Amino acid sequence: MTDHPRVLEAEHRPNPEHISPEQQAVEEQLISNVLRSFDNCTDPRLKQLMHSLVRHLHAFIRDVRLTEAEWNKAIEFLTAVGHITDERRQEFILLSDVLGASMQTINVNNEAYEDATEATVFGPFFVENSPRIDNGDDISGGAAGQPCWVEGSVTDTDGNPIPNARIEVWEADEDGFYDVQYTDDRVSARAHLFSDDDGNYRFWGLTPTPYPIPHDGPVGKMLEATGRSPMRASHLHFMVTAPGKRTLVTHIFVRGDELLKYDTVFGVKQSLVKDFDEQPAGTATPDGRDLGDRSWSQVRFDIVLAPSTS
Ligand code: BEZ
Ligand code: FE
Repeated sequence: MTDHPRVLEAEHRPNPEHISPEQQAVEEQLISNVLRSFDNCTDPRLKQLMHSLVRHLHAFIRDVRLTEAEWNKAIEFLTAVGHITDERRQEFILLSDVLGASMQTINVNNEAYEDATEATVFGPFFVENSPRIDNGDDISGGAAGQPCWVEGSVTDTDGNPIPNARIEVWEADEDGFYDVQYTDDRVSARAHLFSDDDGNYRFWGLTPTPYPIPHDGPVGKMLEATGRSPMRASHLHFMVTAPGKRTLVTHIFVRGDELLKYDTVFGVKQSLVKDFDEQPAGTATPDGRDLGDRSWSQVRFDIVLAPSTS
């Protein structure tokens, strides 16, 4: 076996500090050549993005002393991510999600503003033109699951109610599937409604249950190879919009869910973990609805919108 660094196991490969000064100079010269190749770029932001990308990419290659076989594997992996992507499936976003890149982009773009509700990942299952419901109606549309009464207020950061805020909600059924994952064109467990004159809202949904992200493609293989679970913590999605306010894309999570610590897309924020109070069958419901012999749950989610910056 040759002792060329490229074929040595990672732990036996020399640290970058132990690379000879001549070799370091070769590697650094290449980086400055690549950086200089963008000299004619007239868009300063694009130039900044490309420079930073090149610096970080080369730092990664040098840090791990990437082998040619590993580079080939990475190219094969990205090719597979591209091949499975179409208008129904976006494997690149899934990849970004499981690497925490989506969540970090959300963090960077939704800086904490006073007590405004925190944002989290959008996910791939939002659909435009969801059914409109009135306050107090049921979003489930026949989807299976335990009924859950959801209510709360929409206010600004000074506590003023925001009437007529548009509230989009969507969730998986108790089998862990969104309506769009079935092949029968059903529309269920999604809707939109508007906060009332006092800025309050209420609806019947389903108690959220855990489910896996789509893991039958290259991203799923990567999770398996690295000993990671594809499961997401139980959650209910919200997107809230109101004039002059920053659009809020978020979810609420179920306190006590053991997956809160392991959410595979890193979407959990403590402020979004809520008490879903279990109610035994026969307990009177807030709106007098008769649920027969079914148990139900209830949760309160008060939404605070930050002002928009644009
Ligand atoms: C979801 O919330 O459904 C989701 C989010 C990110 C990746 C996959 C699924
Ligand atoms: Fe989801």
